[in-house]
Amino acid sequence: ATQSFKLNNGLTIPSIGLGTWQSPKGEVAKAVEAAIKVGYRHIDCAWGYQNEDEVGEGIKASGVPREELWLTSKLFEFHHKPEHVELALRDTLKKLDTPYLDLYLMHWNIAFTMDAPEGELPVHKHLVKTDDGKIKLDKELTDNFIVTWQAMEKLVEKGLVKSIGISNFNIHKTKQLLAAAKIKPVANQVELSIQCPQPELVAWLKKNDILPQAYSPLGGTDGQHLREHKDIVAIAQKHKVHGATVLLSWLLKRGICPLPKSVTPSRIEANFKTIDLSSEEFETLEKLAEGHPPKRVCDQSDSLEPYYDIYQENDPEYS
Ligand code: A2P
Repeated sequence: ATQSFKLNNGLTIPSIGLGTWQSPKGEVAKAVEAAIKVGYRHIDCAWGYQNEDEVGEGIKASGVPREELWLTSKLFEFHHKPEHVELALRDTLKKLDTPYLDLYLMHWNIAFTMDAPEGELPVHKHLVKTDDGKIKLDKELTDNFIVTWQAMEKLVEKGLVKSIGISNFNIHKTKQLLAAAKIKPVANQVELSIQCPQPELVAWLKKNDILPQAYSPLGGTDGQHLREHKDIVAIAQKHKVHGATVLLSWLLKRGICPLPKSVTPSRIEANFKTIDLSSEEFETLEKLAEGHPPKRVCDQSDSLEPYYDIYQENDPEYS
C-alpha cells in the first residue's frame, strides 16, 4: 500500500497517522511512544483534545528525532480571532515541545465568542454564553473564516508551520476558501470510514489536489459493529489481520490518509499494517460503503447546513 502521499505544496506526508482524539491523559504518552516504536512517523493532534502535553512526552520518550516525524495539530474554534491564531499555535508548540508543525489545520469553520484579556489565549472560562446557556457563536468570524485563514498563512510565512489545511469543511465552504486563499489548503480532515464514505466530497477534494484525511476511520468508539462486520471479518481472516487493517487498507486504496486512534499497543501495531486488497475484496468493501446512508453529522458533501447546530447537538458541553 501507499507509504506516503504527495501534497500540493510538494511535501510528503506519511500515509497512516496515529489519531489522538479521546486518548486519555495517563495513556496517550505511552500510546504515542508505542506507535513511533513500531514505525509510525505521523501523529495527529489538536489543541482541543487537551492532551498535547502528553503527546509531546510520548514523542520525546520515543527517542526519534523531530525531523523524522510529521506532526499535525489544529486551531481550536475558541481561537479564530486573527490576533489569537499565533498565540494558539505557540501554545500547541510549547505543549508538543517542538519549534514547528508540519501541518496546522483549521479544526472547524465555527468560531465562538470569547472574552479574553488582551494578549491572552482564550480558554474555556472566557466563553460567552447566551441567555439560554448555550455557548455564543461568533457569527461574523464563523462566516468570515478567511480572516482566520489569512492569520494561518502568516504562520507559514514565519516558518512556524510547513503546511496549512482545513478540517470538517464541506465542498461549499472549501470553494469559498479557495476563492480567497493565497495558500491553498493541502488537506481536509473529515470523518471518513465505510459507514461515512462521503464519496462526493472525496472525489471533489482529489480533483482539486487536496488530500482527504480520515478521522474515525474505524467507525470511532461505537464502531465495533463495523470492525466486526461479517464481510470485513472474512477478508481479515483470509489475510490473517485485524478487521481494522481491512478498513484502513480500503481507505488507503481510495487515496485517503487514515488517522486511526488507539491507546492499545497491540491495536496500534495492527493498525500500522496494510494489506493489498484484491479487486474483488475492494468491490465487497465499496458495496458495504454504498449501503451506508450518510449520518447527518458526517455528511459534509455539499450541504449548506450550518455545522454549529450539529456541533451543539452532538457535544453536551455546547448545549
Ligand atoms: P482503544 O483506543 O481502546 O484501543 P477510530 O480510529 O475510528 O476513532 O476508532 C477508535 C476506536 O477503535 C477506539 O475505541 C479504539 O479503542 C478502537 N480500536 C482501534 N484500533 C482497533 C483495532 N485494531 N481493533 C479493534 N478496535 C480498535
